[in-house]
Amino acid sequence: MVNVTKFLRVFVFLCFISFHAEAAVKKYQFDIQVNNVSRLCHAKPIVTVNGRFPGPTIYAREGDRVLVNVTNHAQYNMSIHWHGLKQYRNGWADGPAYITQCPIQTGNSYVYDFNVTGQRGTLWWHAHILWLRATVYGAIVIMPKQGTPFPFPQPDREEVLLLGEWWNADVEEVEKQGNNLGLPPNMSDAHTINGKPGPLFPCSEKYTFAMQVEQGKTYLLRIINSALNDELFFAIANHNMTVVEIDAVYTKPFSTQSLLIAPGQTTNVLVRANQIPGRYFMAARPFMDVPIPVDNKTATAIFQYKGIPNAVIPKLPNLPAPNDSAFALSYEEKLRSLNSAQYPANVPLKVDRNLFYTIGLGMNSCPSCVNGTRLTASLNNISFVMPQIGLLQAHYFDIKGVFKADFPDKPPTPFNYTGAPLTANLGTARGTRISKIPFNSTVELVLQDTNLLSVESHPFHLHGYNFFVVGTGIGNFVPAKDPAKYNLVDPPERNTVGVPTGGWTAIRFRADNPGVWFLHCHLELHTGWGLKTAFLVEDGPGSDQTVLPPPKDLPPC
Ligand code: C2O
Repeated sequence: MVNVTKFLRVFVFLCFISFHAEAAVKKYQFDIQVNNVSRLCHAKPIVTVNGRFPGPTIYAREGDRVLVNVTNHAQYNMSIHWHGLKQYRNGWADGPAYITQCPIQTGNSYVYDFNVTGQRGTLWWHAHILWLRATVYGAIVIMPKQGTPFPFPQPDREEVLLLGEWWNADVEEVEKQGNNLGLPPNMSDAHTINGKPGPLFPCSEKYTFAMQVEQGKTYLLRIINSALNDELFFAIANHNMTVVEIDAVYTKPFSTQSLLIAPGQTTNVLVRANQIPGRYFMAARPFMDVPIPVDNKTATAIFQYKGIPNAVIPKLPNLPAPNDSAFALSYEEKLRSLNSAQYPANVPLKVDRNLFYTIGLGMNSCPSCVNGTRLTASLNNISFVMPQIGLLQAHYFDIKGVFKADFPDKPPTPFNYTGAPLTANLGTARGTRISKIPFNSTVELVLQDTNLLSVESHPFHLHGYNFFVVGTGIGNFVPAKDPAKYNLVDPPERNTVGVPTGGWTAIRFRADNPGVWFLHCHLELHTGWGLKTAFLVEDGPGSDQTVLPPPKDLPPC
């Protein structure tokens, strides 16, 4: 009898545990609506989620299912991308307009329904159509499974810091104007931290973000670069930061005064409030190491010790110089996957498919434009043309004539990519051309910057996957020499990587997620000019290795 009771107790206890470990369903309602917002003494209507700018944070736990019902009340077509979520077999929930879905039209709704599997950390969501992500963005916080601690000291508290850009004018008008002129659209008027530019800008009284801290406590900052076009340095006056995670993957911790973060990337840092109690600026300012004009203004927020009056003037941190390429290279060099038994770095060691893509800017003739030319951008000399229906639908339903799966594995003619500046277009072609990849094959992609018009650094983002950044260098990639120097042990694993100015970056991944996955520069300017393509990853042989059927409410085209 005693044994039976004991058995029952253990049984009930086990049920209790498994009940708690079970995945939860997290539901969100996103109302896309237009609201008046004011910054820098300028008020204007902006597109928001639920009237909030930045938008609401999605909280989930590893293993959860997330349902976000997006209802579009704005005059623009809308789609939302869950940046960095792998969406296994489920491109239908990925969100890039005309790649995995047609946009949600005014008055319509769509439920993004996805599982958070094998990922924990900070990611983010944003509009993925036009330039609407300028105001339609927010954080995604994925907590580890219940009972699983972080692999670093537990912070006392945490805070999300979304770095963004603000235009006084209507961003869609700014973009349209640039397109009509064939020039880059006007640059932003300010950078922001959690939607606020801070006290270095006019009318900032209400628009300064401050986080209160207590002496001796440790804070986890979840930093997200949601700017459209600017790579940013970030630092906190007098406080070092310990980097512990990038793009929702744990890293080997290292301490730094400043960090570099490209649009699309996330970085988690631990900060200890261990300085003389006071007010300290957190600051973000662009990194640009070529003479291309950028909004070079500094956004600030305040790291404020408890009990310190607001009258105390905060101290500014020493950010790296705006063109400090040496800092950028050495910072990237420090990023390493944690690669522990629990969080291994499963780097593909053998490569089935070698891809080499050149990044080119160029000018096409445009009689109606100011200079008679229009700026353009290309990968392997192909400037991507957006289709009229989603590529994923075209693939799934076998609709012909939407795309060609003939994107070349290398540029049409090799040249001295990073030699003297070239102004010729090298015959840039336009087309909706993508690359077909067999299921489960291992891919190495070398992204090579070129001096077509100008070298420039480009943050490349791949949807549906994380990849390993196995190598990077300045100048031309040398296939006979550079792979010997790859880091195949603990390279950083991420979803967005900066290709350095006049250099190259090599990434590897295993194509185990079937579907159509967007690959693009995360500078909105360059995406718009055609710096994008997609991978069509074929179905695998197993019944659990195929693209899922589309949801019933998928927006019509
Ligand atoms: Cu965060 Cu396709 O983008």
